[in-house]
Amino acid sequence: KPVLSQPPHVDWLTGAFSRTPLLRKTTRLADLPGVFADHSGWQQADPQQIVYDVEMLDTLSGSGELFTGVTHLYPGKVGNEYFMTRGHFHALREQGEVYFGLRGTGLLLLQDEQGEMHLEPVVAGSVHIIPGYTAHRLINTGTEILSALAVWSSTAGHDYAALAGGFAWRVVEENRQVQVREVQNG
Ligand code: 6PG
Ligand code: NI
Repeated sequence: KPVLSQPPHVDWLTGAFSRTPLLRKTTRLADLPGVFADHSGWQQADPQQIVYDVEMLDTLSGSGELFTGVTHLYPGKVGNEYFMTRGHFHALREQGEVYFGLRGTGLLLLQDEQGEMHLEPVVAGSVHIIPGYTAHRLINTGTEILSALAVWSSTAGHDYAALAGGFAWRVVEENRQVQVREVQNG
């Protein structure tokens, strides 16, 4: 006879998933060497400080399936640079992704393979269509947790090495304002 299967729920105000098991990955300052411009500021900070948590639904992972996860990016800075995710291209470059802002204030930094840059404000309700061939990084420019829900291809994978030299723009606080700085190369 017909039965209802209960889907997971997400709290739209906090990004908390109702259902376990969840897969959870915590990224601390110690996990992000070379990511922030201010190296001595990074060394002096508490290495155990959590920068972000990613919680994912434990769903099918075969070809054609989708992953669903929430990134909770904490407020903070290293030197004058705001807390951010490491950022990545997908290993399968053509795979896009969708981010939905849930809470907090921040930016989504996008950089394509030609080095073309875009910055989108992330707020509750913002929808971000990340095209294929485009690296993405979340930046928390506010004073509360920035949470964003994401849906992406289970086979997309991550390529962190391609941007190990960093994104071309950095987002910093100067004179109490959010400023975007172009990185000088060479
Ligand atoms: C993904 C998503 C997203 C991302 C996290 C952490 O492709 O998996 O973009 O879940 O992984 O926001 O960011 P980093 O993977 O860059 O550390
Ligand atoms: Ni991604």
